[in-house]
Amino acid sequence: MNRKIAPQQRGDCLTPTDLNLIRKPLDFIAEDHLREREICATLDRIAEASVPERGDLEIVLTFLDGEFAVHSADEQDGLFPLMLARCAPEDEIDKVILRLQAAHRHASLCMPKILALLRDLLVSAAAPDADARALLREFAASERQHLIVENAIILPIARARLTEEDLMALTQGMQRRRGLDQPNGGASR
Ligand SMILES: [Fe+2]
Ligand SMILES: [Fe+2]
Repeated sequence: MNRKIAPQQRGDCLTPTDLNLIRKPLDFIAEDHLREREICATLDRIAEASVPERGDLEIVLTFLDGEFAVHSADEQDGLFPLMLARCAPEDEIDKVILRLQAAHRHASLCMPKILALLRDLLVSAAAPDADARALLREFAASERQHLIVENAIILPIARARLTEEDLMALTQGMQRRRGLDQPNGGASR
């Protein structure tokens, strides 16, 4: 969970989000979402494959076994509490956040099974069975729904409502979760 994720070249969404972006925490989260969307497409490809590509399995495992939990904590422990504190009642953000928190819990409950399944596929180089295919497809579909809500509702409202101090606090939490301790020079949208 606290492993350091090295900055990588960007462009294909198949590498971790560039840590240089962390001082713009909402942009960083949006980039994580682009990557997560690509991971969902890769999960679908694995579910469809007669023999999944080793590279696909490794990319998905790298994300789901590390970045995914850190990203969820960025939202759960960083972004969502700030939004609950800043948003006006007419934003009705509390109901949206409740739904997202339930989705985070569901994903984290499924995760050990998904990781075990993906590791088995990596070792066996065999086709996923029907149950495995269904599990991978269901997880990818529910994560896509989750991404739509976060991109369409959460991030636009966060950009409108969070203060510079909020963004700085969000960045600091994100740095802490990644084992980084660089001084924060000031976050911006
Ligand atoms: Fe997210
Ligand atoms: Fe989320």
